[in-house]
Amino acid sequence: MTEPLGSMRRFAGKVVAITGAASGIGAATATRFAAEGARLALCDLAGDRLAAFAEGLALAPADLFLKAVDVADGAAVEAFVEAAAAALGGLDVLVNNAGIGCFGHVDEITPEAWRKTMAVDLDAVFFGCRAALPHLRRSRGAIVNTASISGQLADAGLVAYNVAKAGVINLTRNLAVDHAADGIRANCICPGGVGTPMLTAHMRDAAIMAEYERLVPLGRVGTPEEMAAAITFLASADAAYITGVALTVDGGVTAQTGQPNFDRLYRERDWDKKILARKP
Ligand SMILES: NC(=O)c1ccc[n+]([C@@H]2O[C@H](COP(=O)([O-])OP(=O)(O)OC[C@H]3O[C@@H](n4cnc5c(N)ncnc54)[C@H](O)[C@@H]3O)[C@@H](O)[C@H]2O)c1
Repeated sequence: MTEPLGSMRRFAGKVVAITGAASGIGAATATRFAAEGARLALCDLAGDRLAAFAEGLALAPADLFLKAVDVADGAAVEAFVEAAAAALGGLDVLVNNAGIGCFGHVDEITPEAWRKTMAVDLDAVFFGCRAALPHLRRSRGAIVNTASISGQLADAGLVAYNVAKAGVINLTRNLAVDHAADGIRANCICPGGVGTPMLTAHMRDAAIMAEYERLVPLGRVGTPEEMAAAITFLASADAAYITGVALTVDGGVTAQTGQPNFDRLYRERDWDKKILARKP
């Protein structure tokens, strides 16, 4: 029988730092780690929302460290990790999760928008890992980065995000290779569409969501809790022999070639019998 979500205690007493924890995937991940016994260091640009969210975690003050941080500022990310380790007595897991989108072609986005996307989505991961490595060496800990299927393949009109997330995936692989001998594992998840403010902000028209869901073999976007399940798995001892992996969590979107769904199109036209009749 499958254990109910969060009934395990894989992180009892472990210190876990998470960026972008006030909303969506980061908040669900914090909730899941807390349910499994972790002590948490959380940061977000939105300090007020982070504080309001953290109240619901019901952690003792000694088990919780909160900080308002703009991860676009590398020094601030490093300071967050240092302060978290000092406040909670070390670090076992770092989840680099904060991220932003950026729409536009190469000749449409401004250099400032390009730089901002790189700073938040990619550079912050570099700075977070840099600061965490000495602590993770001591704990033989783990890094989990939130990349994206948009780092594996290209999306129309999303070049800066595609490039930044591709960087996160290969940075993760490099960390895995360079720091395996230190006893540190590094992995990332590659979510497809997830029902968080980041995605729903672009779904003002229900038809857009319907078009997205038509592309997903499992028929719906993912939930933040499903991403948290993948992140906590990769951070846990259950994944002790997994490092350098980009775990796709996308309901099957990237299992497809991207060709038209002839199966659906034929069936909608009631052509399936003719197609089947031609089979040997
Ligand atoms: N939602 C999706 O469909 C989807 C798909 C693939 C990958 N992702 C990735 O998942 C991660 C989490 O996104 P989400 O979907 O939960 O979105 P979200 O908007 O719900 O949460 C993102 C959080 O990051 C914080 N943040 C943004 N910029 C920041 C900054 N400069 N400094 C500190 N914090 C900052 C926001 O305040 C917010 O709380 C991101 O890295 C995103 O790229 C999301």
